[in-house]
Amino acid sequence: MPAESVSILKSISSGKEYPLDEVRFTADNGELLDVIHDFEAIKTRHKISKEYFFKKKSVINDQPAGGVWHFKELVLPDIHNDYVVSKQEGNTRLYRSKKVSAWLGLKFDKFFLKHEGENPTGSFKDRGMTVAITMAKHLKQKAVTCASTGNTSASLAAYASEAELTGLVLIPKGNVAAGKISQALAYGTKTLVVNGDFDDCMRLIKEAQEKLSAYPLNSINPFRIEGQKTIIWETLMQLNWKVPDWFVFPGGNLGNTSAFGKALFEAYELGLIDRMPRFAVIQAEGASPFYKAYKNNFVGLKSEKAETIATAIRIGDPVNYTKAVRSIKWTNGIVETVTDGEILEAKAYVDSAGIGAEPASCATAAGIKKLVASGEIKPKETVVGILTGNILKDPQVIVDYHMKSSNPNANPPHEIEARIEEMNKYL
Ligand code: F0G
Repeated sequence: MPAESVSILKSISSGKEYPLDEVRFTADNGELLDVIHDFEAIKTRHKISKEYFFKKKSVINDQPAGGVWHFKELVLPDIHNDYVVSKQEGNTRLYRSKKVSAWLGLKFDKFFLKHEGENPTGSFKDRGMTVAITMAKHLKQKAVTCASTGNTSASLAAYASEAELTGLVLIPKGNVAAGKISQALAYGTKTLVVNGDFDDCMRLIKEAQEKLSAYPLNSINPFRIEGQKTIIWETLMQLNWKVPDWFVFPGGNLGNTSAFGKALFEAYELGLIDRMPRFAVIQAEGASPFYKAYKNNFVGLKSEKAETIATAIRIGDPVNYTKAVRSIKWTNGIVETVTDGEILEAKAYVDSAGIGAEPASCATAAGIKKLVASGEIKPKETVVGILTGNILKDPQVIVDYHMKSSNPNANPPHEIEARIEEMNKYL
């Protein structure tokens, strides 16, 4: 890193500043930290503009690097490429779907699903992980750790392996989808199954960062947020830098809510966009502390015991609360809840459109459905929904849904004798 770095860590409320390469995740008073870049200084190095990003060809370590590292000068400008641990994350598709847009009551050419489940380990976590693990290497850390409802642990495991760091993940017993645990085990990280929930795991991680010198890669780590910002910038580029009316996405630990707000705030500051879209953050009804705080004018967060079929967002005490509140204020955003039944119905539509996503991701579609019905989202508005995780992460939910014919969109398998007439019955 150059002696004069253009980036610092800054406490989000008190404004206290720390050097970028100090190993810390919160300020001395416990507040969350932002990575703040000096855009004026960055603009003297690069002519940052919409065209700049269209024309730029990014290469990192001799490989094409679209996605996250396409925006390196706004993510980690001063970190040498040699430290970058990348699996070419990002470059995810922006789908349109006649079936899903019609079901939601939106226009086909104005509704998009950005599929973050198409990242290397099947979720958006890889965008944050590539940046945070790069910093772990830069900061000469030996061990990396996280609390996880599954996707972070899968991502950490893959990146720790690539970076040759010791990985240790904590997952709550009985509430992590099979696909995700399999990944953590297969990629070779040490997996600890905790007798408790995600919030208990998170508490342990915070303690471990002080007592065990293990570098946490949860979204409390401000570098995770820097990587996840690129979901928004990449989408804006795919829309020719035209700002949609809405970004809709699920909220759990509220890392994405924080990252997406910061991405838009910075894009506005840099003159890449000229207005802010609105956010709709969707929580599962049984895991909705952020929704309740929103309804109470953000007077404070009351943690709760979380329960939902969408295990990825089964979180009752989100660590990024204060950053997420800021994002809602910046974007005149709203927070909504959906039931598990609504999530499953939305999932059946997203899946049967040939797109598919894990349950938490489908809170996005369920939320849009509810907000269109209530008139909050207007049928002619442009809406981008973020699908956060891959359909294959949680096969059990799919099997359970389709094996029960009482579910409205169930598509159960049929057993037949090995005869052509039997086959013909189903054509
Ligand atoms: N969707 C999926 C598929 C997730 O895995 C998560 C979080 C979220 C949404 C919520 O995102 O925390 O940024 O609000 N999963 C974490 C994990 C907590 O451990 O994998 P958020």
